[in-house]
Amino acid sequence: MRLTIADPALVLLVGPSGAGKSTFAHAHFRQTEIVSSDELRARVSDDAHDQDASPDAFRILTLLLNARLRRRLLTVVDATNLRASNRRRLQSLAARYGIPVVAVAFDLSEQEFLANNRRRPDRRVEEPVVVDQARRMEEAMVQLPAEGYSQLYVLRRPPAFGEIEVDRSPG
Ligand code: CTP
Ligand code: MG
Repeated sequence: MRLTIADPALVLLVGPSGAGKSTFAHAHFRQTEIVSSDELRARVSDDAHDQDASPDAFRILTLLLNARLRRRLLTVVDATNLRASNRRRLQSLAARYGIPVVAVAFDLSEQEFLANNRRRPDRRVEEPVVVDQARRMEEAMVQLPAEGYSQLYVLRRPPAFGEIEVDRSPG
């Protein structure tokens, strides 16, 4: 599968924990292009999953996005992005700089999200949380086509990640 992504663009990864968002991001984008909510939570609290750290983490995330998009640099938001209201906020931020928004949705089954989570060596997200996220992903899959992305890619098979190529097209 070939993904053509405009450069610059704001790339929103959309998917539950265990979807493979971070794996995908690190396989196809430079470290400095990726802004990760888990990483920013860890930076402010030493715990990537400390939800109390989310407000601070998202303030920093917004600051980073403004700084990068103002410079017209491709930026990937590695967060679940499961809430339509959060996605809308990110879209209006990009619009401020005239940067197109690309969504990459990880539309796997609940079983696959759970299995990937169980398999992970580091931290794990509690299963009821993943189940809830999987349900919100189903809602997101209905909403995303109407949200007006310049491109919307849907990934359905995690093993195919090795076969994914990302091309950049000058925007
Ligand atoms: N994984 C996999 N095959 C893939 C992608 C991911 O087996 N094609 C595994 C990874 O090795 C990892 C787990 O699935 O152990 C979760 O992948 P990750 O990229 O960390 O998922 P995220 O979507 O980033 O999850 P989170 O929201 O919790 O950060
Ligand atoms: Mg991740």
